[in-house]
Order: sequence, then structure tokens, then C-alpha cells
Amino acid sequence: MKIDIITVFPEYFTALGIGLFGKAQERGLLQVITHNLRDWTHDVHHSVDDTPVGGGAGMVMKPEVWAECLDELLGMKAETEETSGMTGNELGIARHPADAAPAPSPQETSTDARPILIFPNPSAPLFNQKAATELSHARHLVFGCGRYEGYDARIPCYYRDRGLDVREYSIGDYVLNGGEAAVSVMLEAITRLIPGFMGNPDSIVEESYTGSNALLEHLQYTRPTTWRGLTVPSILTSGDHGKVDRFRRDEALERTDRIRPDLIEALDCSALDKADRKT
Ligand code: ADE
Repeated sequence: MKIDIITVFPEYFTALGIGLFGKAQERGLLQVITHNLRDWTHDVHHSVDDTPVGGGAGMVMKPEVWAECLDELLGMKAETEETSGMTGNELGIARHPADAAPAPSPQETSTDARPILIFPNPSAPLFNQKAATELSHARHLVFGCGRYEGYDARIPCYYRDRGLDVREYSIGDYVLNGGEAAVSVMLEAITRLIPGFMGNPDSIVEESYTGSNALLEHLQYTRPTTWRGLTVPSILTSGDHGKVDRFRRDEALERTDRIRPDLIEALDCSALDKADRKT
């Protein structure tokens, strides 16, 4: 998978060289390129933002700088002010191969070599395991990190209109200073699902938020079985795998109901077994 990250703080992403993510790059499973948005500015101050149209606090990231950068990374032809309002038909040419096709459905993009453009945004739909799974099948992701009060709303619009798969995601109901931390979170959730990324692929099968059973995980313990007077549930040392599975499933259901009742509401009832229904 190729990953381009556009940011005004490229040094933020030096941590991507460590751990499994670093190893995946060494093995050629991931190719990560971080770009400094300021490299596409033309003024002496390398400014990427301006005051909001209509007034208000803070600064908004300028569309021209983003477009120059994105056009180059996406291999799209730059448009002039005169041509940009016109459709491909009006111009008599397809300005980009994607212009000829309607916006792809998420299903289509999973096997598509075309890049998926992702903007973290606190005002967007929540990023979740389903989105991470879908994006883990992509061949090329381009992340755009906003700063200040965000980016000009026409940027995602413009590329969506040209047939690109453009997504905006929030990673939670809180506001960060910029998109860099959100991109790190999304990247970790996405890339660990790529076949071959994890040392032990089994470790992603049983996890919370996975599959139609999206439950919180049961609790985990390791040795010693008694530590500072606290003993692990005896059933886990019984050697009876059927009872261990049932115990863990009941614990997962109970914890989910208590901590995240919304996940219980959203459960696919056909995924529940007879014993679950009694829990
Ligand atoms: N940028 C600022 N806050 C954010 C959030 N919660 N999610 C994604 N991007 C953001």
C-alpha cells in the first residue's frame, strides 16, 4: 500500500519508522511518503492559511496551495480559473480519466488502484473498524492534515466532483489542534489489518469491534494466576475449552451492555446464540 501524508508538520510522522509500522516499510508492504504542504506555496512566508470568509476566529487553509499539492500527488492536470468552472463536456475533453466514470462505490474502491483521499475533520462521520477494514484493501491512500480552523470546504468537493473517492472522518467527539494525530490513529487501525502486517494474524480475529459480533473484548489475564491477592477466574485454568469460551462470551456481552449499550442495540440478532439471549 502506498501512503502519502500531506502536513505542515512532517516531523510529526517520524514515529512511523518504529515498531511494526517501521518493519512493514522495511519489508516493502507499506510505502509512506510525508509531504510538507508549504513546499507548494509561492510567497516568501510560505503561508497556507487565510482569514475565514464571512468573519470569525482563526484561520482557514487555502484551497490553491492544497490543490497544487494534490494535483501533483494525484497526477491530475492543474486547472486555470477560466476552465475550472466548466465541465469536461464543455471543454470537449476529459480533464482526468476519473471524469468519465461516476464516483466509485466503497465496494469498488476496495480493489481499485485509484487513490482514496482522506481528510480528518472533527465535523465528519466517525471513523470506525468498518471503515478501517474497507480502507485496508486500498492500494493508495492520500491523507490531508488540516490545521487551524480547518481547510476550505471546496477542497474535498473539488476532487469528489472529479470522480475521486474522497472521505472525511472524525476520530472522536473532541477537537484536536490538527489532523496529524487523527491520521496516526487511522493509519494504525488501517495498516494492522493488511495481510502480513501483524506478526500473528490470529491476534486481529477476536478483537473488539470486529465482525457482525462487534462486542467489547473479554478481560485478559496472564501468569501468575494469583498476584497480590487477586486470582484469575478459576474457569480459565480449568482446561475445559467449551466453558472458557462460554465464560468469555458472557463476559463480553455483559461488559458491552454495561459500557457500550449502543453496540448491543446495533448487534445483528442472528449473530446471537441461544445462551447469549439468556445473558
Ligand atoms: N481534527 C481536529 N479534531 C479532529 C477529530 N476529532 N477527528 C479528526 N480530525 C480532527
